[in-house]
Amino acid sequence: MATGVWLVGARGSVAATSIVGAAAIRAGLAEPTGCVTELPQLQGASLPPLGELVFGGHDVADTPLAKKADALAAAGVVPARLVAAVAEELAAADAEIRPAPAVATQREAAALVAGDIAAFRDRHRLERVVVVNVASTEPLVQPHPAHDDLDDLEQALGGTTPVLPPSSLYAYAAFTAGCSHVDFTPSTGARLPALAQMATLHGLPYAGHDGKTGETLVKSVLAPMFAMRNLRVRTWSGTNLLGGGDGANLADPGPNAAKASSKQRVLAETLGYEPQGHTRIEYVDDIGDFKTAWDLVTFTGFLGTSMRMEFSWHGCDSALAAPLVLDLARLTAGAHRAGRSGALTEVAFFFKDPLGTVSHGLAEQWAALAAFVRGLGDA
Ligand SMILES: NC(=O)c1ccc[n+]([C@@H]2O[C@H](COP(=O)([O-])OP(=O)(O)OC[C@H]3O[C@@H](n4cnc5c(N)ncnc54)[C@H](O)[C@@H]3O)[C@@H](O)[C@H]2O)c1
Repeated sequence: MATGVWLVGARGSVAATSIVGAAAIRAGLAEPTGCVTELPQLQGASLPPLGELVFGGHDVADTPLAKKADALAAAGVVPARLVAAVAEELAAADAEIRPAPAVATQREAAALVAGDIAAFRDRHRLERVVVVNVASTEPLVQPHPAHDDLDDLEQALGGTTPVLPPSSLYAYAAFTAGCSHVDFTPSTGARLPALAQMATLHGLPYAGHDGKTGETLVKSVLAPMFAMRNLRVRTWSGTNLLGGGDGANLADPGPNAAKASSKQRVLAETLGYEPQGHTRIEYVDDIGDFKTAWDLVTFTGFLGTSMRMEFSWHGCDSALAAPLVLDLARLTAGAHRAGRSGALTEVAFFFKDPLGTVSHGLAEQWAALAAFVRGLGDA
């Protein structure tokens, strides 16, 4: 039986690149380069095959997926010949995208979203569905007493004042429909005590937060190096320039603050202290999905000698993110099938702001991921 991937933000760049990529790989038209779960160390019968993923989702936008994919091809994110070759698969996924519900209470909205997901699962006779949040980043939310307890939350959802941000409402709806959940964004998502209770109660795993695809990925390799060589990092400052829908959204101070805070954890937690400096995000329309990060690191070595390093990263954001979305869908479905529930801390490898108290160094995260996949066995 196939596995469903329900993308919240299904008409965005990351979602469209994931759908084009999965279809192209299935048709043998592209290699799974960038898909970590295709590495020999992670392969096994415990994960649903890449070729058996079926896509659907929610979006507030109504631009057809084919048009979005054409725009991505024109911008050099995906090859135009692949978009043309998978037109049928894009149309099939597009037919499975539902608008975000507009109703009086969040309880009704959650029921409609859960109903859409359950109907998708039934229509395609899917073994299970993983809900993956790839929608625009939300501003950081204000705490609400109902966030701390599932009974309080269920009651509050019946009121006409929203108590959950959209990302958390989708996570609530996913759990209601019996689906696991992945948050690829820095939004709140399932990261609330009441939702953690709900996942455990329903026996569902969830993973997050915020895909690690660029500057933070490089930091998670370099910071352990400084720590292991006992070099003292004095400052670490980074400037990220990005365009595209994500860049436009991050130009807004609310989502920008959410993103910048999720990018900062790696240094303090890997080095054991916080060097001076900040991560800045700036919107540059002209560079579209191609992100530039410039980082300057100053550090002290033996006898106080002062040194510095600089790096530039030029990545295509959606091309880096999409294979990880496919990996996370497969891993979370595999965990669900193996009976895992609650926070999947072992997939920290994929995230800037991982769940739980885990190492932020990439090498340790990789070892934890490989052990996790081995532990899923051939369930
Ligand atoms: N590309 C990367 O490398 C990367 C890395 C980490 C995290 N992310 C995160 O992934 C997310 C998607 O990035 P993108 O480049 O595809 O952005 P995008 O702007 O192209 O797509 C976001 C989509 O979400 C939709 N959306 C917004 N609010 C919604 C709602 N309430 N319900 C349903 N859909 C909604 C939008 O209409 C849009 O289609 C962002 O939050 C981004 O921060 C991306």
